[in-house]
Amino acid sequence: MMTRTSLILAAFALLLVAGAGAQQPEDQSSFTDIDEHFKYGSVGTEERVGLPYWIWRVLPTLFEDKLPKRPGSGYERLGFMPEPGRPAQSRPIGTSFLQDRTALVGLNCATCHVGSYRETPTSPRQIVSGMPANQMDLQGYANFLTACAQDPRFDYDTIMAAIRKENPDMSWLDRLTYRFVIGATKKGILERARDNSWFNTRPPQGVGRVDTFNPYKVLLKVPMDDQVGTVDLPSLWNQRMRQGMSLHWDGNNNSVEERNKSAAIGAGATPQSLNLLSLRRIENWILDLRPPRFPAAQIDSRLAATGAGIYKQECASCHAPDGAYVGKVTPLAEIKTDPGRLESFTAELSTRMNTIGEGRSWRFSHFTKTNGYANMPLDGLWLRAPYLHNGSVPDLRALLFPDERPAVFYRGYDVYDWARVGFISSGPAAESEGVRFDTALKGNANAGHLYGTTLPVPDRLALIEYMKTF
Ligand code: HEC
Ligand code: HEC
Repeated sequence: MMTRTSLILAAFALLLVAGAGAQQPEDQSSFTDIDEHFKYGSVGTEERVGLPYWIWRVLPTLFEDKLPKRPGSGYERLGFMPEPGRPAQSRPIGTSFLQDRTALVGLNCATCHVGSYRETPTSPRQIVSGMPANQMDLQGYANFLTACAQDPRFDYDTIMAAIRKENPDMSWLDRLTYRFVIGATKKGILERARDNSWFNTRPPQGVGRVDTFNPYKVLLKVPMDDQVGTVDLPSLWNQRMRQGMSLHWDGNNNSVEERNKSAAIGAGATPQSLNLLSLRRIENWILDLRPPRFPAAQIDSRLAATGAGIYKQECASCHAPDGAYVGKVTPLAEIKTDPGRLESFTAELSTRMNTIGEGRSWRFSHFTKTNGYANMPLDGLWLRAPYLHNGSVPDLRALLFPDERPAVFYRGYDVYDWARVGFISSGPAAESEGVRFDTALKGNANAGHLYGTTLPVPDRLALIEYMKTF
């Protein structure tokens, strides 16, 4: 016969089970469809940078005033794209989910590697996996969370009242859990803000860009310097042909697998929390993921054929997949683009990067300090605008006609400019939907890479036409 205590214990255990069931939003951390997994699945960032699901869910409503004034609602205003056709209340692309003691929402590869374009301002948004997330405002996301946590309204009563509006059936046990979780989350966000305090002492990263290696200086306890290492988000297509190439913008790593893992760690995973199985699936998929083609109707094929010959002569050695110098580094003294990103990755940091994963089979060993920027394949080039490692040149036309490189332009407006080959980066719509980019700020110089710029105008136009076909 059951004693009184064990009865009570059994009842409590039942409640625990019921409680856990009621709290869990209908969501998952892993998806059968690989594209869905890439956009919404977990790679293991949640423990370190994740937020408890219900807090994450109510913050944009509760603190709407702290969101940037960009189009859309909620997290969309920070660049997290909702995907048409998914059920109401679905998470946006680039957010992951993990059922830990509480359900957590974190970031994944799609946060930075899914982008969009529109043919015209009224066309539907085309969402492209593996494309740079040209609209994503990561610094804005961090600043938004910090501003919320600093607000006195970030307390149990206010947050819980907002949660109960969305989830009136939340169990007493979950409410009890959240009594602890809300305080811990506030503390966690403020701690991260201290780690990221270097962020706001530098020019704004803006949208579609992120400082790659300064966060590792904090993580690996390498003394912080005043370098600005902000880069344009790259594409992830065709990783197979990139195997063995020295890539990242400065060519500091020639192992695809290490670049993938360091990306997950950069996004918030720890060597312990890294979900190797999930990462492996993504890794395999991006080996052969292809970019969409530039609409054929918009290409003058005769002009493009002329351009192909010029490209072969002027550019292919560095950029063609079989070029003699592709996947190698062009010294800064020759390429003369902004030095910031190169200098921010110091020799000391390089040594420390190779200690990540100590004691594990995948321990990093391929990081090296280089003296320039990498010659990379130009696949899917049309969707990789703005160009250069810091995203300082809005379109291919401006790249090849340097006196048309604007000193100030707007990034993050996703309507395509079919003639200039890049996104529309000036005018009222770009100004109101995009974010200002000033090439005079540290790290933002639009100089250098003058290949092809002294060719006759018709040759340059032919080159641009040809590059539409990539
Ligand atoms: C916070 C934004 C962010 C997230 C999240 C992110 N990446 Fe990246 N990724 C970058 C940036 C920035 C670079 C360029 C780094 C540099 O060279 O400075 C990059 C570069 C890469 C590259 C090398 C590209 C090249 O050709 O040079 C690969 C591969 C990559 N990421 C894979 C991934 C994978 C896989 C994930 C998910 C596990 C991921 N990334 C998550 C921002 C991100
Ligand atoms: C000597 C090697 C070399 C040659 C030749 C060369 N490039 Fe480049 N290219 C680079 C390097 C290095 C970068 C990256 C520079 C940076 O971002 O700071 C680059 C970047 C680019 C980018 C930007 C890619 C992106 O994703 O933002 C484009 C476009 C480009 N090159 C086109 C050309 C064209 C067109 C030619 C021929 C007229 C050419 N390149 C010739 C080395 C070269």
